[in-house]
Amino acid sequence: MSNQQNQDRDLEGKIALVTGGTKGIGKAIANRLARAGAKVIVTARNSPVEADSDHHFIAADLSLPADVIKVAGQINELFGGVDILVNNMGANTYPGGGFGTLTDDDWDQAFQVNLLSSVRLDRALLPKMLQQKSGVIIHISSTSGQFPIWESTMAYSSAKAALNAYSKALADETGPQGVRVLTVSPGLTKTEAMEVFLKDLAKKSGITVDEMTQTLFERVGGVPLGRMAEPEETAELVNFLVSPKASYITGANYFIDGGNFPVVK
Ligand SMILES: NC(=O)c1ccc[n+]([C@@H]2O[C@H](COP(=O)([O-])OP(=O)(O)OC[C@H]3O[C@@H](n4cnc5c(N)ncnc54)[C@H](OP(=O)(O)O)[C@@H]3O)[C@@H](O)[C@H]2O)c1
Repeated sequence: MSNQQNQDRDLEGKIALVTGGTKGIGKAIANRLARAGAKVIVTARNSPVEADSDHHFIAADLSLPADVIKVAGQINELFGGVDILVNNMGANTYPGGGFGTLTDDDWDQAFQVNLLSSVRLDRALLPKMLQQKSGVIIHISSTSGQFPIWESTMAYSSAKAALNAYSKALADETGPQGVRVLTVSPGLTKTEAMEVFLKDLAKKSGITVDEMTQTLFERVGGVPLGRMAEPEETAELVNFLVSPKASYITGANYFIDGGNFPVVK
């Protein structure tokens, strides 16, 4: 093994849970952490299409409190807890069109999926981390948390903004006990969820997906790097943040957005 490869195995012996680790950004993170030597557990509602990974899969709908308890119970029993928890699962599946189209149920779902699933999972898995006085929790948020688009992300953006605040508060609480907590906010990223989102918006607007993509770039204030992120690019950042190389970093929110936002963050 080359020196470079050796250096990259700095998660050897670590147990990592990646929620929503079967597709998109979560899948890229799961694969990256495994390459760095971690034993990786992934959750999703449906089994992964490709059965080619060594990840331990647990089927669960994490928007349901009972499923969070089931996942934490299985992990504590089989692995004795986790060292790394990546709360990646999240979704923007709520009707667009502004305040009048969102029902109480839509608002509730947005917060269950994008905030409370993480709050509950952290609560279930943190005690072991605190006991061992080490651990890292990542919350995958979104630039939408700071940049709501009323026509298409009102409930989602609100839930992600709440996640950002919660993540910082948790970092302040657990830092003195050796547990680091960070937020990662991706911008537009090429995943299945993004594909569905664009197709849906294009259909509603009566334009092509390419035209919709350009419109979205303009709507978010432009992306200087001129393209969407690949999930693997976000996975690299997460891999660094959970590694010992980031041992003095906690409580921060990292933007990985190709330079999006025409303001100083
Ligand atoms: N793509 C983007 O442009 C973008 C931008 C900013 C932030 N993000 C954030 O990045 C994260 C990942 O997004 P993505 O685009 O990679 O999504 P994705 O391609 O749709 O993948 C989502 C993953 O989460 C799982 N999942 C969805 N709902 C679930 C539930 N209720 N319980 C358990 N698992 C569930 C999915 O599997 P099942 O469907 O089988 O459950 C899948 O594994 C999300 O938090 C999203 O908000 C994405």
